[in-house]
Amino acid sequence: MLYSVGTEPTRLVSVPIGGGMRLHYHNLHSLLVNRHWHIVKRHITIRKLANALSCLVHYWMRREIVASRPLYVKVETTDCCNLRCEHCHDGTVTRRNDFLDFSMYTSVVDQYSRYLLEVSLFDQGEPLLDPLIVDYVRYASSCNIGTVISTNLSMTLSDEQLSQLVTSGLDYIQVAIDGVTQATYEQYRVGGDLDLVLFNLRRLIATRRRLGSRTPLIEWQMLDFAFNRAEQERASELAAELGADRFMIKPDSHSALLSPAGYSRQVKCILLWVSFAVESDGAVSACLVKDGDSLYVGDLRETSIQDIWNSPAFAKLRRCSGRACSEHPCRECNWFAGRAKTSPENRATTAR
Ligand SMILES: C[S@@+](CC[C@H](N)C(=O)[O-])C[C@H]1O[C@@H](n2cnc3c(N)ncnc32)[C@H](O)[C@@H]1O
Ligand code: SF4
Ligand code: SF4
Repeated sequence: MLYSVGTEPTRLVSVPIGGGMRLHYHNLHSLLVNRHWHIVKRHITIRKLANALSCLVHYWMRREIVASRPLYVKVETTDCCNLRCEHCHDGTVTRRNDFLDFSMYTSVVDQYSRYLLEVSLFDQGEPLLDPLIVDYVRYASSCNIGTVISTNLSMTLSDEQLSQLVTSGLDYIQVAIDGVTQATYEQYRVGGDLDLVLFNLRRLIATRRRLGSRTPLIEWQMLDFAFNRAEQERASELAAELGADRFMIKPDSHSALLSPAGYSRQVKCILLWVSFAVESDGAVSACLVKDGDSLYVGDLRETSIQDIWNSPAFAKLRRCSGRACSEHPCRECNWFAGRAKTSPENRATTAR
C-alpha cells in the first residue's frame, strides 16, 4: 500500500519503501519548510541568520512596525499563462496578462539583498513565458539569494533556454504534473500536453547532468485530486525513473487549505512578519498564500518597498492578526494555524 492514514495533521510519519525512496506524510507547512530548507542552507549568512532571529523576536513581541527585514519574497514576474487550470480560472484570480517592470524587482532585491534568503519567481502565471525569467534568477543569484520557480513545462523550449535555466543559479524548480495519462492530466491542466511536459522534464534533467550542475533541484509536483489518485503511485515511480530529485503530492488548496474554517483565528500568522508578495502590476500583498485585495499593502509604482514594509496598512494587519477581528482577512485562513484541515491524503513522497 502506498499510503497509510494519519489522524494528526502535524505528525510526520516517514516510511522507507525501497529503491532509496521514502514516503512522508505532512501538512502543507511541513512541505514548505522542507523545500525551503534546501534553499536556505545554500544561502544563509550570519547577517541573514541574525535578521531571521530579529524577525522572530518582532513576531513574538507583536511589533507592528519592525526593524527586521523580510526573509522571503514572492514575485510574480508575469500573470500570463498558456493553460487554463480551474484554480486560476474560477473567478478568484484576476488576470491582467502583464509583465512586471524589471526595475521594480531590482529595487526590492537591492533594498533587501543582504537579508533575503529566498525569492519565489511565480504566483498566478507561468514564469517560463517571461522572456526575462533567467535574468530574474541571475539577479537574485548574484546577490546570494535563493530562487525557486514552479512551471507547467508545457511549452516549446530550446536547448539554449534549458541550458540558461540550469546555469542561471536557480536553486529549485517545481514541475506541475497532475497525472501520467493525458486524460487524467488535462482534467486540471486544461490545454496542457503531457507528452511535451515529460519530454521537457527529461531534457531538463539531461541538461543538468550534461552541464555537471547540482542545481536546480527538480521536483515533480502532483496536486492531489480524487480523479488522479489511481495514478499517484505510478507518477512517483516515473519521477524516480526519470531522475527527478523529489516527488511531492500537494493538497488541492481549494478543497483543503484555505477553505473557511468556521473558527476565530487566535494564532498570529508569522508570514506578516517575514514576507510579502509582489504582483506583476507592482501591487504588494502582505500575504503570499492567499489572493485578494484585502491583503494589499502598497504599490511599487508609487511607494518604495521600505515604506510599504512598515506602511500603515501593513502595520494594521500585524496589529489585528490573531485577534479574531471580524474584518481581518486572515480570519478564515487555516494556514499556519497548526490545525489546517489536512485530509489523510495530504502527503508527500521523496524520490532519492
Ligand atoms: C498558480 S501556479 C503558477 C506557476 C505555474 N504556472 C504552475 O502551474 O506551476 C503556482 C503553484 O500553484 C499550484 N497550484 C495550482 N492550482 C492549485 C490548487 N488548486 N491547489 C494547490 N496548488 C495549486 C501549481 O501547481 C503551482 O505549483
Ligand atoms: S499552469 Fe499554473 S498559472 Fe497556469 S493556469 Fe495552471 S496553475 Fe494557473
Ligand atoms: S493567516 Fe493566511 S491570509 Fe493571513 S497572512 Fe497568514 S497565510 Fe496569509
